[in-house]
Amino acid sequence: MENLLPRAKQAEFHRLKLTKKRQLTKNTFEMEFEIPEVLKPNFKFEAGQYVTVKYPSKGRVFQNDFSMTSAPFEHKISLGIKINDENSSTKDLYNDFEIGDEVEISEPKGRFTLVSKPHEFRTIIGFAGGIGITPLISHFKNILYNEPRTRLFLFYGNRKSEEIAFKNELDALAKKYGNRLQIFYFFSQETGSDNLFHGRLDERKLKLIINQILHLDDTDEESTIWDAVDEVLICGKGEMIKSLANACYSNGIPKRNIHFELFEEYNEDIYPQEKEFPLIEDIEVDFKLFGRNYATELPDNRSRLLHQLLVQKFPVPYSCKSGICGSCECILEEGKVELLENEYLTEKEEKKGHILACMSVVLSKKIKVNFDLI
Ligand code: FES
Repeated sequence: MENLLPRAKQAEFHRLKLTKKRQLTKNTFEMEFEIPEVLKPNFKFEAGQYVTVKYPSKGRVFQNDFSMTSAPFEHKISLGIKINDENSSTKDLYNDFEIGDEVEISEPKGRFTLVSKPHEFRTIIGFAGGIGITPLISHFKNILYNEPRTRLFLFYGNRKSEEIAFKNELDALAKKYGNRLQIFYFFSQETGSDNLFHGRLDERKLKLIINQILHLDDTDEESTIWDAVDEVLICGKGEMIKSLANACYSNGIPKRNIHFELFEEYNEDIYPQEKEFPLIEDIEVDFKLFGRNYATELPDNRSRLLHQLLVQKFPVPYSCKSGICGSCECILEEGKVELLENEYLTEKEEKKGHILACMSVVLSKKIKVNFDLI
């Protein structure tokens, strides 16, 4: 993916040697980098994280984020990357670097992670759209390796079968782990014999998946597989995430168990706001971000603080937009906000004035916040 999300903090870069490069589909490719012994502590990572790659293209230096497909136990950095169009900088990344070349790669980061539970019997489902499969491959390899009793279901959407990235790897994993991993491919522009697998992964499709795939559970006749789902992982474009996250939530999965990673800039909120607030207009906002002080005005408090700052194109860090990951954490230094939901901050942090911009509705004419926590 060419991920354009703002970087949460200034990254530390190192030069890593490219050890493998191969085309996956017409517009996706894989790059693999070796981690030298001396940099192993810097490149310790968790499944689902990403790195930033610095590379030149068309007279500029690009810094783009790419999720890793490698799992921590593999001790290497593998990336799946999409070339969006002829002018995409990633086309130069593919063409200009050869095996043996060094590329500047940041230390891993990101909060699309799961706590490992090797002794539990868990059911985890994943939804991926296009190149959004990359962090899910890392998660799935990691879970299959570390949690011998956990079972996984993957629902992977593409426009056409020829666009499936990492198909051989996924099928090999399913073969190796038998019933513990089941993969279902969906195509929006291709029809097969079963209509279930035709169309986009969205709310309507989830209903069919629950009824036709995640139904009776062999391991527990009283329950369905869907009822046993512990965690949901979703990665892809904003609209897909919004539709599926809301559908999972309305079908009984708590928000804290729905994890997602956006693969594009997305200014909309993932979950709708359920509560109403007195209208406040012309709100003054002062904030500090990456060492700079900014001052702006919000037209009103109809939408949350993060959303309004992103609409104004401020590079505020975010990931989940639903109070789970903590990427948008900041300190409220002046004014009043209401935190709609919080699955991240501790009580102690809340008392110290920490808030999550994605879940904050402004309730005063002026606020002052600081995103530079350290
Ligand atoms: S963006 Fe994840 S908590 Fe705000």
